[in-house]
Amino acid sequence: MELTVSPAASLRGSLRVPGDKSISHRAVILGALARGETRIYGLSRAGDVRSTVECLRALGISITGGEGGKVTVAGRGRQGLQEPEDVLEAGNSGTTIRLLAGLFSGQPFYATITGDASLRRRPMGRVVRPLVAMGSRIFGRGGGELAPLTILGGDLAGTEHELPVASAQVKSALLLAGLYARGQTTVTEPYLSRDHTERMLAAFGVPVWRSGLKVGVEGGTELEPQELTIPGDVSSAAFFLVAGAIVPEAKIRIEGVGVNPTRTGIIDALQRMGADITLENETMAGGEPVADLVVRGGHRLQGISLGGAQIPRLIDEIPVLAVAATQADGETVIQDAAELKVKESNRLHTVAVELERLGAEVRELDDGLAIRGPARLVGARCESYGDHRIAMALAVAGLVAEGLTTISGSEYIDISFPGFQECLQRLVP
Ligand code: S3P
Repeated sequence: MELTVSPAASLRGSLRVPGDKSISHRAVILGALARGETRIYGLSRAGDVRSTVECLRALGISITGGEGGKVTVAGRGRQGLQEPEDVLEAGNSGTTIRLLAGLFSGQPFYATITGDASLRRRPMGRVVRPLVAMGSRIFGRGGGELAPLTILGGDLAGTEHELPVASAQVKSALLLAGLYARGQTTVTEPYLSRDHTERMLAAFGVPVWRSGLKVGVEGGTELEPQELTIPGDVSSAAFFLVAGAIVPEAKIRIEGVGVNPTRTGIIDALQRMGADITLENETMAGGEPVADLVVRGGHRLQGISLGGAQIPRLIDEIPVLAVAATQADGETVIQDAAELKVKESNRLHTVAVELERLGAEVRELDDGLAIRGPARLVGARCESYGDHRIAMALAVAGLVAEGLTTISGSEYIDISFPGFQECLQRLVP
């Protein structure tokens, strides 16, 4: 499929973005492990979350509803999962395969999980090695580095893990395995990654403790079913934050967005660049902070430097941040972001190639990007590389490019943001 975007002089209106994808995965997984019905409001309809739901159904969990984002998970207790009859399919979703590899490590059964061509290229050793150290038996291509993964779970020993990279997927897999391990499991990260698993485990009644960058759980606790409201996904809101910051006459309100501090690096970065973004109606939902985000265009942006602990806080937003940087005065330098090479596409490369195609000045670094602005963008035919966030970042670039920007492979947008195009269209006066 193709998406064609025309330049916009103004963007006006209010919108809601889908429920947070990361939180949605965790809500259905923990709901499946609790004994009794967990009700979830605002569950994301994204393709990635559907992958997790289908895997859980294949383990004997009933997940019903869907209208208006209201879903009921009939949890069968910590020991209630059944051995799947067939190979499980994680599709494009790294969160599905890595979190479930952790969960399956604690189950007394055989499970094989695979994914699409992009997922089968992504590194799994980072989750396989520490799970094997806990006592799980996991087999995969390339010595356990690549999916398909076959997991023979069983008797796990609580282990102290030190992660070489900040990864919420790896941390979450180890904490899920830790629910089934003897004694304590701890995970120490080099920088704090998103902490939704920790928050949600606590909401389901599991004692979780944290000391700085170290988080721990004790094996053996039963989970209690919950009523959960999923906030809007700040990673989806990010496309409209950048659109609002670079389209001169923009004024956009995005309602009910999750503003967990481990996720709001994009707001901080855009504000540092000079964008006018305010938070209103701040509240809490399901253990997570939520706010309306209001962005007003017409302010000159400045290039900034980013690295270190800031990176995990905006890791998924770097493609669209790069679009903002093309419109800023001076250079924006993003470092310590080598992780982008192993996302749904090699995002350092795909961002650089596609933004250059539109006329931007972008240098691909070993661990990041250097973007010099302001650049006059000119619409062209672009490619998503099967990567939802690349497709949407290019659509935002198209709003400030002369002429038409056409993005092929736009169907991948549904992986995280079904309805993106309609949201964008509604803002054009
Ligand atoms: C996610 C964690 C991040 C992020 C991904 C979702 C999660 O990945 O990029 O989109 O839901 O835990 P890593 O754990 O690989 O950093």
